[in-house]
Amino acid sequence: MSVTPVESPLFEPARLGPLALPNRLVMAPMTRSRASAEGVPQPVMATYYAQRATAGLIIAEASTPNAVGQTYPNITAIHLPSHVDGWRRVTDAVCGAGGRMFLQIQHGGRVGHPDTSGLTPVAPSPVPLPEPVSTPSGPQEAVVPREMTVDEIRSTVADFAAAARRAVDAGFAGVEVHAANGYLLHQFLARGTNRRTDAYGGPVAHRIRFVVEVVRAVAEAVGPERVGVRIAPGLTVNGIEEGDTEEIYPALLDALADMGLAYLHVVFADPEQPLFRRIRTLWHGTLIANPVLGWGRPLPADGGREAAERLLAAGADLISLDRPFLANPDLVERLRGGAPVNQVRDEALFYTGGADGYTDYPTLDGAGPVTV
Ligand SMILES: Cc1cc2nc3c(=O)[nH]c(=O)nc-3n(C[C@H](O)[C@H](O)[C@H](O)COP(=O)(O)O)c2cc1C
Repeated sequence: MSVTPVESPLFEPARLGPLALPNRLVMAPMTRSRASAEGVPQPVMATYYAQRATAGLIIAEASTPNAVGQTYPNITAIHLPSHVDGWRRVTDAVCGAGGRMFLQIQHGGRVGHPDTSGLTPVAPSPVPLPEPVSTPSGPQEAVVPREMTVDEIRSTVADFAAAARRAVDAGFAGVEVHAANGYLLHQFLARGTNRRTDAYGGPVAHRIRFVVEVVRAVAEAVGPERVGVRIAPGLTVNGIEEGDTEEIYPALLDALADMGLAYLHVVFADPEQPLFRRIRTLWHGTLIANPVLGWGRPLPADGGREAAERLLAAGADLISLDRPFLANPDLVERLRGGAPVNQVRDEALFYTGGADGYTDYPTLDGAGPVTV
């Protein structure tokens, strides 16, 4: 199919720390559960990510920095040499196809299960996830997590830093610290999950401490220009009750402001929302915004281009899209040409493993998917 290029700020180049991005479209991190049971990325993942290498930046899926941080079965990890080797195949394929890649580092905290990791999950406080959690034998009731000691908090900070070093060894240009979506860092930020009375709990200034320590340690380990942070202000996913959203995020951004980080990444960014506008004012660095396209609803016919352009107009520097990239290996070319996008074929294939619903989405030119 021939397409007529459309003018849009989305296709202007941008800089991200030391990286030159050819466009402003970022592939958002998406867990796809295609790793081995030990968290080692499998060869099919090299094909999947290389197919999407025309993204300005790919942020690869949530990867656990230690064994107890594992959320779900078959998610990727980055704490053993075998994880580095597995990811190296992926980054080589993406670089070979002309792309650039960060890795998201995620500790699940209370979102995990002994049947998955072999360990009792840890969290700021012993408050269980109020919903079932995925395990190798299917969804199960969540267990009460063990409250982290201060020593465990310190060793977890060190694990994040070590994971970031391994990610760079594996060929990633940088890492994204996952402080969103109800996982461990978000659990520390939120009042509902953080009932501590020590220096890591209580007032907002204490509840942000763990996130700030993680980000600082990661920035010291690999350089701040290689580090992004993902936040989800107000999101209630995974049973999160922040309590004082309007205070948490300004305080957090203030504490991160002078670190010289590569970017801040905001989930479910709404250009009309006062908090998003406030975040844009407070954050002087690069801002990646992730629009609300509506989980479970069909993708917009324009693949999210209008939503993306609205966020750029509201001050975002880069736009991350998730399901549009999942279903369209050549999303950038489609949006540039104003061409229709593939819909997600089957959500049941999001986390099932294998190539089905993963590397078999067709490209616009009908050439079929690339295999590396
Ligand atoms: C299959 C799938 C896996 C996801 N995995 C992650 C992940 O590993 N880390 C993360 O921060 N967000 C993850 N997300 C959330 C997306 O990055 C994005 O913020 C969100 O889905 C946007 O909502 P939308 O699909 O309605 O546009 C995932 C989303 C999908 C669809």
